[in-house]
Amino acid sequence: MRYFFIVYILLIVVVISVAGFRGSHSRRPPLEVFPDMDRQPKLHPQSENSFFANGLSSRKPISGTIARGRNFEVNPETTGMEYGSYLENIPVKVTGELMERGRQRYEIYCSPCHSSVGDGKGITTQYGMMPSSNFHDAKNFFEMTDGQLFKTIEVGSKSGVMSGYASDIPVQDRWAIVAYIRALQLSRLGTPEDVPGEMQSQFSN
Ligand code: HEC
Repeated sequence: MRYFFIVYILLIVVVISVAGFRGSHSRRPPLEVFPDMDRQPKLHPQSENSFFANGLSSRKPISGTIARGRNFEVNPETTGMEYGSYLENIPVKVTGELMERGRQRYEIYCSPCHSSVGDGKGITTQYGMMPSSNFHDAKNFFEMTDGQLFKTIEVGSKSGVMSGYASDIPVQDRWAIVAYIRALQLSRLGTPEDVPGEMQSQFSN
């Protein structure tokens, strides 16, 4: 029992002398428990290095390297924003070709959840997923500008329930989808008067 007390007290002394003085200043070199963690054989960025002919530790990317992430110019067309606010209108020219591309991309990427008509009751609702946003709702039509729709495709919905499609849908295609969503929305708001005169005869009530 006596030995136990001696060992116990010694242990306390050892623990306090090693751990108890952490953070206090000393002129002596610190105790390095894992010296290879403190001193790693690595090169600091932009330091000198005799291994390479030009003496630099930092290497240039090899030619043909393609940057990941932000390898695009930052302007209203690529961000959907200008002076910190969302663009009101699509900044690219809306052509028949763009609309067709938008329809196709929409069918691939958006219709499984938002449905082909955009009412949010896509096929995923049959598999237990909650309905997605209805593009015919005021919230997603009157209040969301073209830039906001663009941003949603890039980064996902505000609450984060829908994730972003930045890696799958390039900038041009995002605008194409925005244009197509506007067409879907108009399809429910349009009146017979919106149809060009020469085509009105094709409609009968
Ligand atoms: C996997 C299902 C899914 C897919 C695919 C999907 N969405 Fe969504 N989306 C949702 C859900 C769920 C919500 C509602 C999220 C919420 O309330 O935060 C939503 C919300 C939105 C909103 C409203 C955003 C907001 O912040 O309120 C927009 C706009 C939208 N989606 C556009 C799109 C477009 C465009 C595509 C195709 C590129 C797309 N979504 C693809 C599930 C999806």
